[in-house]
Formats: sequence, structure tokens, C-alpha cells
Amino acid sequence: AQKKEWHGKRVLVTAGGTVERIDPVRYITNDSSGKMGYAIAEEAARLGANVTLISGPTALLVPQGVELVPVISTQDMFDAAMSELERADVVFKAAAVADYRPAVRAERKLKKKTETLTLELVKNPDILEEIGSRKTKQFVVGFAAETDRLDEYAMDKLKRKNCDLLVANDISQEGAGFGNDTNIVRVYGSDGLIESLPLQSKKEVARRLLAIVAERLPAVLAG
Ligand code: PMT
Repeated sequence: AQKKEWHGKRVLVTAGGTVERIDPVRYITNDSSGKMGYAIAEEAARLGANVTLISGPTALLVPQGVELVPVISTQDMFDAAMSELERADVVFKAAAVADYRPAVRAERKLKKKTETLTLELVKNPDILEEIGSRKTKQFVVGFAAETDRLDEYAMDKLKRKNCDLLVANDISQEGAGFGNDTNIVRVYGSDGLIESLPLQSKKEVARRLLAIVAERLPAVLAG
């Protein structure tokens, strides 16, 4: 039923975790599998959208009809997202982005010399915040993974990063968040909670999210 809303729309999805190199053989990353973002990309393409998927390294196959832009670091994802942003109608920011990266990337493998080793980290750019500040027509869906005070932190992120919707994963619950085939999320708009989705597959979550967005796409986009 949503084919009309999505046909010809440009959807930008980010997925997976970003990877920050320490040296040629070591890195910092997180547990994101990419499943949530890939499910959104797959469903959006099935509904007729033109989908670009900017993804950190994952073990997943590229969904049919989706254009993949593979990235490694947060800076790579930032650059790719900024160059795609202007033509996007809807953005889903499902990636788990490394907030910090090593201040220096060692050219050679670090040697085991000392009893302790301190790694200095510097802050990465916040991609979603930048999208929120640059957006013009784009409908922006942010994500958040929280262990507590879900409502409060979700609403704070939605406002601070200027999102139209925010999808919060309650990662304190079994079956939610990183790595699983399932998720449990709460969806917020600027007026607060819109919908609470109980445990279900990421594919089903993706379908529902696309339906919630389709209902809210400005009429000017729905042509
Ligand atoms: O990949 P899966 O295994 O399927 O797991 C899915 C998921 C749990 C990773 C996904 O549903 C999710 O919640 N992604 C966001 C997780 C996260 O890292 O949230 P955050 O609270 O750190 O960040 C909030 C938002 O800002 C996110 O949209 C994130 O993409 C964005 N962000 C964060 C930091 C940063 N430097 N740049 C960003 O764009």
C-alpha cells in the first residue's frame, strides 16, 4: 500500500559499525552487525525507493536493488553521507558510529614494550548532528541505543540532532539492539513517543518504520 509514497524517493541509509585503526593490525569498533540498516534498505528498495546504503564492514549481502557505498572509518562515513545528503529525501541513520578515534594511527605495528599502554582518543565528527544542521527538505530518522532513561535520552538526541523521528533501541532487553535478528524499539517524534514496537524481527521493525515515515512525508514529496 505504501508503494505510491516510496516510488522514486531517494532514501539514504547508514548501517553497521565504523572502524578506527590503531595500527596496521588493530582497531576499535562495536557490535553492530548492520542488520537493522540493511533491513530498512531492503524494504525501502522493495517499496520502490532508490536506496543508497552507506555501510561499515559487515558480513551481510547487499540487498537487491540497493546501491552500496562501503566505508571503514567514521570520517569515511561522514564524507560519504555529506556527498549523498543533498539528493536524499529520507535519511535513516542506523549505523553505530565510533564516537572517538585514536589520535594517531601508527604506521607500524605497535610493539609490546611497556606494562601499561595509554591510547589517546580524539572525538569524531557527529554525522547525524551535521545532517540535522544541513538538512533542507530531508526527513531525518536518527537512532539511539540506550540502556536506561530511554525517553529522556531519546528526546534529547532528537532535539539536539534536529531529527524528524528518533528510533530508540532498549538494549537492556533481551532480543533488542546490536547483533540480533530481532529488535525492540520506541519511536519518538518532536511531541514525544509515537509508537512502542514489541519484540519482532528487524525486517518487521523496518516495515513499520517505513510506514510511520510514509505517513509523515510532506505532501510536496509525495508526488
Ligand atoms: O547493526 P545491528 O546489529 O542490527 O544493530 C542495530 C543498532 C542497534 C546498531 C541500530 O538499531 C542503532 O540503534 N544504531 C545507532 C546506535 C548508536 O550508536 O546510537 P548512538 O546513541 O551512539 O547515536 C545516536 C545517533 O547518532 C545514531 O543515529 C548514530 O548513527 C548517530 N551518530 C552518533 C555518533 C556520531 N559520531 N555520528 C553519528 O551520526
